[in-house]
Amino acid sequence: MKKRAGEKEKEAGGFVAAVILAAGKGSRMGGDVPKQFAEAGGRTVLSYTLEKFEKHPGVEAIIVVCARGNAGRVREICAKHGISKLRAVVFGGETRRDSSFAGVRKAAEIAGGEDGIVLIHDSARPMVTEKIISENIKMAADSGACVTAARAIDTTVTSRDGKVIDGVIPRETVWSVQTPQSFRLSLIVKAHAEYERRAAEGEALEQVTDDGGLIRMLGLPVAICPSDNDNFKLTVPGDIDRLRSALAVKFDRERPEENGGQHNA
Ligand code: CTP
Ligand code: MG
Repeated sequence: MKKRAGEKEKEAGGFVAAVILAAGKGSRMGGDVPKQFAEAGGRTVLSYTLEKFEKHPGVEAIIVVCARGNAGRVREICAKHGISKLRAVVFGGETRRDSSFAGVRKAAEIAGGEDGIVLIHDSARPMVTEKIISENIKMAADSGACVTAARAIDTTVTSRDGKVIDGVIPRETVWSVQTPQSFRLSLIVKAHAEYERRAAEGEALEQVTDDGGLIRMLGLPVAICPSDNDNFKLTVPGDIDRLRSALAVKFDRERPEENGGQHNA
């Protein structure tokens, strides 16, 4: 029998969970509610993000990490949009890493004794695609750790004083790191625990800014899953309009019959 898309990835990695990080305050974005709960096209940002993982056949379980006080709101959004894979809503922490560890720990608990793959994704990145999710699952199963990243588009330079350029970095070597970031479950749990051990001993760990950084801290390689800037993260106020435009283009492409059949290229 022909395999459905996603089944191959699932077989390769065993249990596959998605941890959706939604415990941030969205201070750069501002607004009445944190950006993951902001609306675009009549729906919350979080609902678009969740739907991508719900629809992907390779993902088995979804765990949402949110701030205390928002669990009800998250469960409502899941119910409204038919997120049947939701297995847990857990509370995040002060930093993104705290939130990520809370989600990953819950994923390991749900997996029971089994190892598997975990995809860690920013709720504020609703334009993630099925292809990116598929490639993350496959790369994490093959190599243990991967981060989604986009090549730098502009010329990249350095400036220590913020006034004058003091160096140029060859553009081909520069990537902007995004999410999903995906790992063998046992490896990322170990990396978070090791980070906490080192932090408690007073080690300087400023270089570790994301989940991929935790793996590099262990001296292990992290593969790149190539992406582009369509998988942008809502960060500043103008990004909500950017999302609205991206959703409108997508709607035109997917339902040309409702739009005069003009944009089905
Ligand atoms: N996040 C989280 N827990 C935190 C901080 C961030 O779960 N303590 C999540 C956010 O909800 C977001 C993702 O991590 O989906 C990426 O972080 P970022 O874009 O920095 O979001 P915020 O921290 O919410 O925004 P800001 O830094 O502007 O306050
Ligand atoms: Mg932040």
